[in-house]
Amino acid sequence: QKIIFSGIQPTGVPHLGNYLGALHHWKRMQDEAEESTRLFFSVVDLHAITVPRPKGLLKQWKREMVAALLAIGLNPAQSTIFYQSMVPAHSELQWILSCTASTGYLSRMTQWKHGLFSYPILQAADILVHRATHVPVGEDQRQHLEFARECVTNFNHAYGVSHLVAPSTILSPAKRVMSLTNPLQKMSKSDPDPRSRILLTDAADVITSKIKSSLTDSVNSVSWDPVGRPGVANLLTLLSHLDGEEGRKGGRTAAELGEGEFAGKPLIDLKMRVAELVNAELQPVRERFHEFMAQEEHLDSVIRDGAMKARESAENTMKDVREAVELGG
Ligand code: TYM
Repeated sequence: QKIIFSGIQPTGVPHLGNYLGALHHWKRMQDEAEESTRLFFSVVDLHAITVPRPKGLLKQWKREMVAALLAIGLNPAQSTIFYQSMVPAHSELQWILSCTASTGYLSRMTQWKHGLFSYPILQAADILVHRATHVPVGEDQRQHLEFARECVTNFNHAYGVSHLVAPSTILSPAKRVMSLTNPLQKMSKSDPDPRSRILLTDAADVITSKIKSSLTDSVNSVSWDPVGRPGVANLLTLLSHLDGEEGRKGGRTAAELGEGEFAGKPLIDLKMRVAELVNAELQPVRERFHEFMAQEEHLDSVIRDGAMKARESAENTMKDVREAVELGG
């Protein structure tokens, strides 16, 4: 059975990198899923508390994230949407995994946050507690996923069982969307410059202005040169992910666009086309986001139902895990 799991931190409204690298891909996987496939999407609030934030903000960010997930088209009847902290088995499995995790492996990882070993172990537990088979993520999560597979090997070997399942990493076509102000860095929530990213809630004129002022170079005509012209390449790449019919986006590659339709055109033409397509993509998402934010009771019920389903799924695994480790009664 195919079980799809992914997570996102509730640290503000998602940006275009989250959208193209993850959320849009989740929605596509949901729409293409067979009847027997189960899907889980977690708002990982436990992961989000590694950074300090003003009182009340986490609660707001979590609700915004649920509204965003609904706005991009996740359907709670098909996809289980839940807060990580409402399923304590995630934390329980994290502790159990940490007891067989290899610290040598952990210290060789470059991606873990804030030097916390517990961060990638909790992420592994998120996935393994639902026995997920497929995990759609952006490129920056690849190492964490490798580590999750390492946890499976260690646990199963230590206890002589095969209760945990090794998940496959599913990279989205837009696996690494770059910053608009520094095309050598990925678009990120933590970049201090808000013009480096486009938020799902940005108004049309804000989106256009951010793309128009995005960092390119002093050559004023388009060419495809990802090494020499990363800013232009980033715009062409964005365009390639947004170009084409719904469900068939990515019809032409960035290279095809840069060497074909846009070759030699003024940069502003490319920028305006990117802005137009980003706007067309995000406008309905933004509108639905505000609609869902106003539906308090609906949000509450999505959160409650999601937690119930996720607890049931996690309990199934934990029964086997506790028995193998000789925990519980
Ligand atoms: P987070 O919240 O930083 O990001 C959520 C998703 O967005 C993707 N992403 C990007 N993709 C392309 N280009 C970008 N510039 C870009 N920025 C972000 C990320 O790859 C991710 O898929 N540790 C995770 C959350 C997590 C998780 C999990 C994910 C916790 N448990 C279990 C998968 C499975 C994180 O911080 O993602």
